[in-house]
Amino acid sequence: MNTSRISLLASLLKKYSLDLIVLNPGPSMFYFTGLQFHLMERPTLFILNSRGNAAMVLPELEVLKIKTTLPEVDCFTYGDNPNSWSAVIKTAFTGYDLSAPQIGIEPNRMRYLELNFIQQSLTEAQFSSAGPLISSMRVQKEQSEIESMRTAVNIAQQALKNTLPLIKIGMSEKNIAGELIIQMLKAGSDPELPFPPIVSSGPNGANPHAEPSDRKFQSGDTVVIDWGASHKGYFSDLTRTIAIGPLDEELRIIYEAVKNANRAGRISAKPGIPAGAVDRAGRKVIVDAGFGSQFTHRIGHGLGLEAHEEPYMFSENEMILRPGMTFTIEPGIYLPEKGGVRIEDDVVITKDSCESLSTMDRELITISGN
Ligand code: CO
Repeated sequence: MNTSRISLLASLLKKYSLDLIVLNPGPSMFYFTGLQFHLMERPTLFILNSRGNAAMVLPELEVLKIKTTLPEVDCFTYGDNPNSWSAVIKTAFTGYDLSAPQIGIEPNRMRYLELNFIQQSLTEAQFSSAGPLISSMRVQKEQSEIESMRTAVNIAQQALKNTLPLIKIGMSEKNIAGELIIQMLKAGSDPELPFPPIVSSGPNGANPHAEPSDRKFQSGDTVVIDWGASHKGYFSDLTRTIAIGPLDEELRIIYEAVKNANRAGRISAKPGIPAGAVDRAGRKVIVDAGFGSQFTHRIGHGLGLEAHEEPYMFSENEMILRPGMTFTIEPGIYLPEKGGVRIEDDVVITKDSCESLSTMDRELITISGN
């Protein structure tokens, strides 16, 4: 349990007009308690009020997990008969002596399952999003969090280095996606990856979120490889695009444009400017190269305990960048029916500029093929 984060959270509740915050399993529960649960059919709740009184509702079989890590937290457990859960949850909330509380929940995680139990316990409760409050804490990473991300980046980079020599004409996207997963685990990634690797070749690369298919690599393909590892709950998320044999001129031109846009984004990023300015700096390069309409997404997204979190790096975002914020810079150009190029780095805002946690070469790598 992270006592200093929990006391800060408790002390901020009033400022956000909340009486209670209730978290269910996910990255925020992990951030505050250090507990990792899968979101399954049994409700698990962490409850905290502004005086710092914390309670946990969880299945009996998980109780060992918290006895050692959360000694100061009141613990309410239940067995496997779902008919008993409602009464246990009600008891957990009676300790707070609240009639019509304002309850903050995590908008992307709370489900009908938990919400319904809470409503049965506190019929007058009002719910609102604790997203802004939680994000205000999570968005600026501490040094230990940055180091975990750096490790996750290094593991991912090592995995691609070990995979590249295996790539040849005739291998399929799925072959290489599978190999990358094996190499990430061998290089020390935690088993839960941020997302399954994307390996999209030739025309498939024109879809930014393509799933690896049975398509086999051919000479003249670009291959977009978007992959990430995890370490202590923190993620990396990288993309490199390689060439199978020589590329035609248009693909070479878009590769250079994307590489320059990635660089412009990284150079622009520093504390005190809006997140949107990074997108605009990178986008300008691609627009000037004549491919503005083929750069169809924001330049990046925050990264940490989630693969996508604040700050979201879209043009209009006025959120001011601060030291410790971590996000991706990943411009891309997608030519329908032909191919795509994307180059993605993970960066952290420093005292006066930005540092790329990813250090892998961004020059085009050409695999001779056979
Ligand atoms: Co990404």
